[in-house]
Amino acid sequence: MNIFVTGAAGYIGSHTCVELLNKGYSLIAADNFSNSSGESLERVKRITGKDIVFYQADIRDAAALDKIFSENEIGCVIHFAGLKAVGESVAKPIWYYEHNLSATLTLCKAMEKYGVTKIVFSSSATVYSAGNKMPLTENSATGQCSNPYGWTKFMGEQILDGAALVNHWSVALLRYFNVIGSHESGLLGDDPAGIPNNLMPYISQVAVGRREFLPLYGDDYPTPDGTCVRDYIHVCDLAAGHTAAVEYCAKNTGVEAFNLGTGKGTSNLELIRAFEEASGVKVPYRVQPRRAGDLPEVYTDASKSKTMLGWSAKKNVADMCADVWRWQKNNPTGYKA
Ligand SMILES: NC(=O)c1ccc[n+]([C@@H]2O[C@H](COP(=O)([O-])OP(=O)(O)OC[C@H]3O[C@@H](n4cnc5c(N)ncnc54)[C@H](O)[C@@H]3O)[C@@H](O)[C@H]2O)c1
Repeated sequence: MNIFVTGAAGYIGSHTCVELLNKGYSLIAADNFSNSSGESLERVKRITGKDIVFYQADIRDAAALDKIFSENEIGCVIHFAGLKAVGESVAKPIWYYEHNLSATLTLCKAMEKYGVTKIVFSSSATVYSAGNKMPLTENSATGQCSNPYGWTKFMGEQILDGAALVNHWSVALLRYFNVIGSHESGLLGDDPAGIPNNLMPYISQVAVGRREFLPLYGDDYPTPDGTCVRDYIHVCDLAAGHTAAVEYCAKNTGVEAFNLGTGKGTSNLELIRAFEEASGVKVPYRVQPRRAGDLPEVYTDASKSKTMLGWSAKKNVADMCADVWRWQKNNPTGYKA
């Protein structure tokens, strides 16, 4: 089956391309390189020895999608393309709504026009409302998002829900928890532009000497060591979750949400210590005030994905740290060698 991957050159997209190619799928990929470059896809080809049909295109561009959908037989879409920085979404809400929602709407219109009925959507644990009891299940309350980015994911899910109902589509909404890790080859990894928003790329950039210290936001939360607890999932496990979702969509119609996480919480301090152990490098940190909107604990109940997708995460935090360090050490300035 041919799979159309939007945002394929990005962090999760590139790792998922490796997984899909290794499973024998043919890929049509698009990216506008707004947060990536062609280098990641060159490395995907190096790892797999397989080629990808690639379009440098913006998913908001209906004419570009017309070209892609008319030139290829597409069996399923995986939709990664979008803006993802929570803080930036608070500063530029209209840009985030416009960008993320119009990309999803333009894509849905192309799917309708060309009769493509299966889509796997990159959603996020940010769709869950604050105040839910942990662990989060797919039935936990949604729709009281604390930032525009989260709202764009919630609204993206609503758009797909509506489209699925009238068109009898198969939709898998994958709600990712905290994605870290890198491909074991050390060739692919997270390469955020500018100052990292997330803890792990910040830790690894401090370890490699690109930043002086790690700002640790809050050490007075009601958690065992006072720092925030999150559910970290290895990007290669996440990528495998996408092939499981593609297989699920091939056999089922309707809309189904799946939490992709390990089900285990790790505190910020535990993650720093695990990284130091894996790398042998000390990571200096300075405690800063809490960041607005950060919840003390977020982790999932991973049982629905196990039962319905036959998928569960295999790698632990030590594996994640070792793989991130291999990537960062081999690529101290990311893809910009
Ligand atoms: N990284 C995480 O921890 C995480 C967690 C939850 C959800 N997500 C979602 O997963 C998806 C992928 O995340 P990522 O970490 O790989 O991000 P990323 O920024 O590395 O990848 C996104 C890719 O999409 C491209 N892109 C953005 N807008 C585009 C457009 N209009 N047209 C074409 N290409 C476009 C970017 O250039 C980039 O290559 C995003 O939708 C993100 O919101 C990520």
